Amino acid sequence: MEVVIRPDADAAAELTARIIADRVRAKPDLVLGLATGRTMEPVYDRLAAMDLNFSACRTFNLDEYVGVPPQDPQSYRRYMNERLFERINIRLANTHVPNGVAADLGAEVASYERRIKEAGGIDLQLLGIGEDGHIGFNEPLSALMSRTREKALTPKTRQQNAGMFGDDPKRVPTRALTMGVGTILEARELLLIATGGPKAEILAKAVEGPITAMISASALQLHPRCKVIVDQAAASSLTQREYYDWIFANEPEWQAYR
Ligand code: GLP
Repeated sequence: MEVVIRPDADAAAELTARIIADRVRAKPDLVLGLATGRTMEPVYDRLAAMDLNFSACRTFNLDEYVGVPPQDPQSYRRYMNERLFERINIRLANTHVPNGVAADLGAEVASYERRIKEAGGIDLQLLGIGEDGHIGFNEPLSALMSRTREKALTPKTRQQNAGMFGDDPKRVPTRALTMGVGTILEARELLLIATGGPKAEILAKAVEGPITAMISASALQLHPRCKVIVDQAAASSLTQREYYDWIFANEPEWQAYR
């Protein structure tokens, strides 16, 4: 795992977008794993503003609420269409978001796993982190080898995500479909972005604490190619900041991004 600390949220989003852009340029038929949430909005704004060719890319989103139809303004499908897909030259048929209103949710999650495999696996998976340490919607105690499945959301997550539901946690769905921790770990490269003070404590536990199913983001420590990009506020509880800064300032792989 490598941690890069940027001065502010804008700089963290900028670096994240530049890394994604470089992967798309290097492999035009990149299979890109995508995430939703407020943290991703400035990343998608930047990607949309860059002159990138997504016409051969395929994408797979991490998760979707159960019971929220794709055309609903609160769905993650609609979020993705509006915030990214309609602003770039991707073919909508090449974009995948789990269908939270499928008649058979079991068949939907199995087909999602199959579609990822048929695409050749995910090259680069973008991730955010929930305040309870989830990646996707892998809530505490999610098996570290879990696959795409239906998952019940914690009260904390429903509270955190109430913004899209008129600030009323009770209106946030109780269940979601999500890639599993095991599914996520199979991506060839992982990129987690976290910004803002409220993420500081959980981020430090996920990055520097022991691996535990209580914090699904801690499983990223197992991945050989995982980058964590944070702003100063989200980095404030990390103990090894000097070392991370030294790596970013000195290692050749970061030269182009300094
Ligand atoms: C939701 C998503 C996660 C995301 C998290 C963080 O719970 N399922 O994938 O990482 O929100 O959201 P935000 O970026 O708004 O803090």
